[in-house]
Amino acid sequence: MEHIYPIFDKMLSRTDKENLLKQHGLMIWFTGLSGSGKSTLAIALERELQKRGLLCRILDGDNIRSGINNNLGFSEEDRIENIRRIAEVGKLFVDTGIITIAAFISPSNAIRKMAAQIIGEKDFMEIYVSTPLEECERRDVKGLYAKARKQEIKNFTGISAPFEKPLHPALTLDTSQLSVEESVNMLLDCILPIVSFTNK
Ligand code: ADX
Repeated sequence: MEHIYPIFDKMLSRTDKENLLKQHGLMIWFTGLSGSGKSTLAIALERELQKRGLLCRILDGDNIRSGINNNLGFSEEDRIENIRRIAEVGKLFVDTGIITIAAFISPSNAIRKMAAQIIGEKDFMEIYVSTPLEECERRDVKGLYAKARKQEIKNFTGISAPFEKPLHPALTLDTSQLSVEESVNMLLDCILPIVSFTNK
């Protein structure tokens, strides 16, 4: 059927949305061991960006593994599917001009590469939260390292499943050496030039 108003049947573009929000979309992808501080940094970063008038969306285990991905476990196959779905959802947010902050172990270079390719390399900023295993295990916020050591949990990253260090992260943050404030300031230095509208 011929369209009478061809100009009205096209979805608004990412640029239209970015102009509305006066910011550029970006995926900030935190990778690192369980307990390394990914979610803590994501939350602190979101607050600082919001203070500057920038709209963010955090994706983390609390809102993804308990919802859209609640049928997935921690086998290699399930972790790939976990990250694939997160990347697809994240891409929708980035394409809406939203600064999207993902905090997932995402334990291999291949899995992170898949995420970057789904989202688009130019929109993907990889942040390695490099807090050493000993410190993550000492913190053991959720008591999972103790269970993993007793083999009550299998395939636990860092104990009985691998974690590959990222090859070329935009930033490496060791939260056993840096305060949250120091880390967030380093993040803001990387992120603000990319997401800001010059005339905002
Ligand atoms: S990922 O490997 O698929 O990226 P994701 O970040 O979603 O992992 O989930 C990791 C969180 O799930 C951990 O912080 C921890 O609380 C919990 N968890 C439960 N079982 C495991 C496991 N076997 N390995 C790692 N994390 C686990």
